[in-house]
Amino acid sequence: MAKRKRRPAAPAGAARIPASDPPVRPGLVSPRRPVPRGIDRPPYALDPSGDPGRPTSAPVRTPAELEAMARTGALAAEILIRACERVAPGVATDSLDRFVHDAAVAAGAYPSPLGYRGFPKSVCTSVNEVICHGIPDSRKLADGDIVNIDVTVYREGVHGDTSVTVMVGDVDEHSRRLVAETRAALYAGIEAVRPGAPVSDIGRAIETRAGRAGLGVVREFIGHGVGTEFHAGLQIPHYYDRFADTALAEAMTFTIEPMLTLGAPQVEIWDDQWTAVTRDGRRTAQFEHTLACAAGGAQILTATPAGECAHDLFLDALTLS
Ligand code: MF3
Ligand code: CO
Ligand code: CO
Repeated sequence: MAKRKRRPAAPAGAARIPASDPPVRPGLVSPRRPVPRGIDRPPYALDPSGDPGRPTSAPVRTPAELEAMARTGALAAEILIRACERVAPGVATDSLDRFVHDAAVAAGAYPSPLGYRGFPKSVCTSVNEVICHGIPDSRKLADGDIVNIDVTVYREGVHGDTSVTVMVGDVDEHSRRLVAETRAALYAGIEAVRPGAPVSDIGRAIETRAGRAGLGVVREFIGHGVGTEFHAGLQIPHYYDRFADTALAEAMTFTIEPMLTLGAPQVEIWDDQWTAVTRDGRRTAQFEHTLACAAGGAQILTATPAGECAHDLFLDALTLS
């Protein structure tokens, strides 16, 4: 018998939730922003194809690499906070790209998305039903939108990768719940990190949390090893996968970045070959941190030296009524 492709159903209760309206449409993408000579580029950025090749780095970092990752992660966290502060109705996602690009370069960092596998911009901005990899363009944020801003920077030979979904003005109740629960799902995943535990513990924690909230979990995009490479070999599913049996170990570095959906977690890709949207057009949210597995559990690398991150700073609108 032919194997049927597994089609996760929409969560119970989703029928009451309408598709995001109006749908997001592609806007105009501005010309590629230059990176000054003198900024150290990741290897893929030296190749016009942006092909990073197959991951080759070790799953664990050296002590010096871990220190560099804390500094680069802090920079990513700082830029993400400042990008979120600029979010308002009428702001084009391209202007968020300009801000992130200029902030990275000013700090002596390379904006990792730029040129990665041909990605044309320096940050991903994913609005409403866009799951991830949204390309910043001329579309202006509107009152009621939700937008994920995903910042990755490369400095001292290592990447820091972090994202949050923030609300634009007055956002409907379903979307507020989606954003709050997706943030909580990230932290549920982070809580599951401990040396010796299988990677599958992370996805199980996230899936359980999402299921209780009646939300779908996207399966096509997963967390990843990160360090000297943007996407290293380690894979971190956000659902329970019994084959994800790699044992976590101290000094492993990776992301957790769940994408949760109000409806079915089915993915469709736009003709630009990047923008991933939900098939049913219902909204989706994502939160991401770069982490190191430490003796006592996860260490969040994408926080400022004061321990701040956008994940904690833009919560006012998240109070559930
Ligand atoms: N930052 C994304 C992640 O979390 C990857 C973006 S790849 C890009 O893995 F090319 F779209 F930038
Ligand atoms: Co990532
Ligand atoms: Co990211």
